[in-house]
Amino acid sequence: MRHVREIIEPQLVIEGAGVLLRRSFGPNRANRFDPFLLFDHFAFNDPLEGPILGFPTHPHRGIETVTYMLEGNVRHRDSLGNAGVIGPGDVQWMTSGRGILHEEMPRRGPAGVIQGFQLWVNLPAAQKMSAPRYQEIAADSIPAFEQDGARVRLVAGTFAGRTGPVTEIAAQPIYLDVRLEAGAGFRLPLPSRHTAVAYVFEGRGSFASGAENETLDAPPRMVVLEGGEEVQAQASAETPMRFMLMAGAPFGEPIVPYGPFVMNTEDEIRQALAELRSGTFVTESAI
Ligand code: CO
Repeated sequence: MRHVREIIEPQLVIEGAGVLLRRSFGPNRANRFDPFLLFDHFAFNDPLEGPILGFPTHPHRGIETVTYMLEGNVRHRDSLGNAGVIGPGDVQWMTSGRGILHEEMPRRGPAGVIQGFQLWVNLPAAQKMSAPRYQEIAADSIPAFEQDGARVRLVAGTFAGRTGPVTEIAAQPIYLDVRLEAGAGFRLPLPSRHTAVAYVFEGRGSFASGAENETLDAPPRMVVLEGGEEVQAQASAETPMRFMLMAGAPFGEPIVPYGPFVMNTEDEIRQALAELRSGTFVTESAI
């Protein structure tokens, strides 16, 4: 069974044109969450924050960015010519490969609230300069099912004999939105070498079992799970619990992050910056 190695309290950071985020971890050479690089929770619900400024056109290279919305939406467009709105329950899985330019502009929903997440997944060295690719999955094509008090939405990977709509991702990710009724439990078999983290954003509960039980009573928190071949979660007897669960195969390669780029060497970062300056960063451009 997986045990809790660490519980991370997300820190408020400002990104883009002045967007307030709760960041559990960001790209770092230590690469402790390999193959995952970053996990941000959009949290603009404090009225003191004022208008939402969003993320005007910016580049990415060497990574995949995954946007999952719960409330509100993100209007986006990119250099491949894609444009649209990611609404509640939708997923955008963007594989930057060698280069993409995109714009991401979050908007509040009817209740005045935005809730959503952005996850960055690394690409292995052999795919960092691949052609960019884009998968947008509407809410109704994401398998959602209930099992013993657990409501699960399956974005990527295989769980309970079903496979999520996002496929052909190098990190072999599992990405689930899990809501447990009070007292309900959840189990997920997982190869022991895969990285697994759970972002608890509602309710109370615990991970693993027995003496190693770690109870969470102050979400949001990122729970780092290590060892063992099964993830176990349990909502408290009185309160439901909701979390995003991410697991994937580590690449074990050195990384050099620089802003929106994550490459393997400093030379590759210098090359990306030189291409941006000379206007050759994207080969196919619709904006
Ligand atoms: Co971006």
